[in-house]
Amino acid sequence: MAPEHETVINHQGREIAIIPAQSSHHKSSQDIPQLTGFTMRQANVDDIQTMQWIASVTFEDTFAGTAAQRDMDDFVAQAFSREALLRELENAKMHHFFLINDESDEVAALLKFNDSGAQTEEGENIPSHSLEIQRLYVMTAYKGHKLGSYLMNYALEYGKRHGYEQCWLGVWEYNYAAQEFYKNWGFERFSEHSFMVGEDNQTDFLFKRAIR
Ligand SMILES: CC(C)(COP(=O)(O)OP(=O)(O)OC[C@H]1O[C@@H](n2cnc3c(N)ncnc32)[C@H](O)[C@@H]1OP(=O)(O)O)[C@@H](O)C(=O)NCCC(=O)NCCS
Repeated sequence: MAPEHETVINHQGREIAIIPAQSSHHKSSQDIPQLTGFTMRQANVDDIQTMQWIASVTFEDTFAGTAAQRDMDDFVAQAFSREALLRELENAKMHHFFLINDESDEVAALLKFNDSGAQTEEGENIPSHSLEIQRLYVMTAYKGHKLGSYLMNYALEYGKRHGYEQCWLGVWEYNYAAQEFYKNWGFERFSEHSFMVGEDNQTDFLFKRAIR
């Protein structure tokens, strides 16, 4: 249940913003949109600059206010460095896709999923024979228009075609909007892990669902 206020106190006693779910968004909807006006394409090493830009914009959107700006800048510079993102783009087990707005040519959404052997976590608590969705970002202007659902469906279909039994992902504990979206797609929380943003210890809830 999302708190009434848009800030909560985290483990360090720091007041942080949350990403609220919209209460009207509870109907079950897995109808896949027609992709009118958008083109999906696989990203490659030539997209490195766009990838860096999206990674930092979406990270800042999500974690604004959770840590000192300098810590956040350090985190973005390290996690989304050109070298780090190039390594990901060159990894054949990591799959990156953009949804491009046909009219403006701008990137409306990004999807990244990882085959087994190239996942952010491979521990015992990660379901076996599973596909990881590592990034699913819809840019602010395009939220609520089923682009996220289109990309989710694409990842699950890929999983089905490649014989995966489960799909899993991590979502920040205060990102209620994304958690609602994932629950709507049949995901359930099964574990959690921590990560540091600067000196701030953050928690991701791990969600999974069967691939049928
Ligand atoms: C979460 C996210 C991927 C959803 O994509 P989207 O294209 O906006 O979502 P859709 O239009 O496909 O929504 C499908 C269903 O998800 C649920 N949902 C979507 N946004 C929601 C919100 N803000 N609050 C509650 N439920 C929501 C609804 O049930 C919705 O169905 P409905 O529109 O029929 O009510 C998108 O908002 C996003 O990229 N957010 C920022 C980045 C992020 O948090 N990514 C996840 C990181 S782990």
